[in-house]
Amino acid sequence: MTHHGRSRRPPKGAFTLKRLLVRALGRETSPLGYGCAALTAAGSRRDAIRVLEAAFDAGIRHFDVARLYGQGVAEEILGEFLAGKRAEVTITSKFGLEPAPVVARVPFLPTVKRLLKLIPAIDRRVRRTVSSMTAAGSFDVESARRSLETSLRMLRTDYLDCWLLHEADADEANRPELVEFLLERQRAGQVRAFGLGSAFQRLGGDCSRFPGCFQVFQFENSVLGRERRRLGGVLGRALITHSALAPMPRALEHLGRSPGAVSRFNGEHGFDLRSPRDVAALMLAWAVRDNPEGVVLFGSGSPHHVRENVALLDDPRVTPAALWGFEALFTPEAEPNRSSPASP
Ligand SMILES: NC(=O)c1ccc[n+]([C@@H]2O[C@H](COP(=O)([O-])OP(=O)(O)OC[C@H]3O[C@@H](n4cnc5c(N)ncnc54)[C@H](OP(=O)(O)O)[C@@H]3O)[C@@H](O)[C@H]2O)c1
Repeated sequence: MTHHGRSRRPPKGAFTLKRLLVRALGRETSPLGYGCAALTAAGSRRDAIRVLEAAFDAGIRHFDVARLYGQGVAEEILGEFLAGKRAEVTITSKFGLEPAPVVARVPFLPTVKRLLKLIPAIDRRVRRTVSSMTAAGSFDVESARRSLETSLRMLRTDYLDCWLLHEADADEANRPELVEFLLERQRAGQVRAFGLGSAFQRLGGDCSRFPGCFQVFQFENSVLGRERRRLGGVLGRALITHSALAPMPRALEHLGRSPGAVSRFNGEHGFDLRSPRDVAALMLAWAVRDNPEGVVLFGSGSPHHVRENVALLDDPRVTPAALWGFEALFTPEAEPNRSSPASP
């Protein structure tokens, strides 16, 4: 494979070993996707490109973004990065939550954000003001059309693999004129698949509450929440999950309260659950195992974490028994001495 005149070895690890078919997208992609929600939070534009580069080089081929992320700047940076690589990746973007227009016009936005971080009190106040200006829930056809045009322009592409309603509920999703518009954009080839990217509670526990043509459902799923297992109506729908790592502080606190169970687990499976690194690895690996037909997103501002996350999919310690044992550590009724799965 050649990119930008440089020849590359085929991506290692996760990509080659665990390529999954996401049926709704009509093509294969990597089981781990990189989420761009915090892409512009960490530092400069160059830092953002560096982390995207780390993800792509490690074999990640799915990228999740939204009009809202970085107040519009995340799509722009991702578009710049993916120029020349478009055919190799799948991209999700979302609409409905739009950047505040006044913020979108600020020149050098990532630099302004970085400077604001130096004065936390002002940074917090600006963030509060900006989030109160963010237009919530614009799911009418005209807003959707404008949003799609902007996303395609920012991402420098003429199609999205996946386009999601951003934080919509069933009432907002079931508007016939919106559904007709989504189908029309799909027929026109601008959108390969569409669906919902919303907090789990908005799904009401059942994908069947949403139009049958919604092929993709995206929501949080972690070893602490286990949301996917509480969702009905998933047959024939592709699932993308995220926020497997977000509850890490809670997970570490929980594990800290069970030193005996933790040291038994460490002894049996060769991990060190006193180390955040190993806890992160298992939390992400758990989410991948829990959504085997879909994609699991993670966010990170650290190229090192990105590489670690991809490498864990080839870690020989990540066995079904280890993942089951890890899950059991968070199950209050788990029997402390059992060490192998009751069922796969
Ligand atoms: N409505 C929606 O559709 C929706 C909602 C929420 C999220 N999402 C998508 O899902 C993506 C991920 O969500 P998220 O950021 O909330 O959750 P997440 O990926 O579970 O958690 C991100 C956090 O995990 C840390 N992390 C990553 N790898 C790590 C490692 N190896 N070791 C230790 N810490 C690690 C990151 O810190 P570092 O930066 O230090 O690595 C960051 O603080 C978002 O970017 C977005 O694309 C979509």
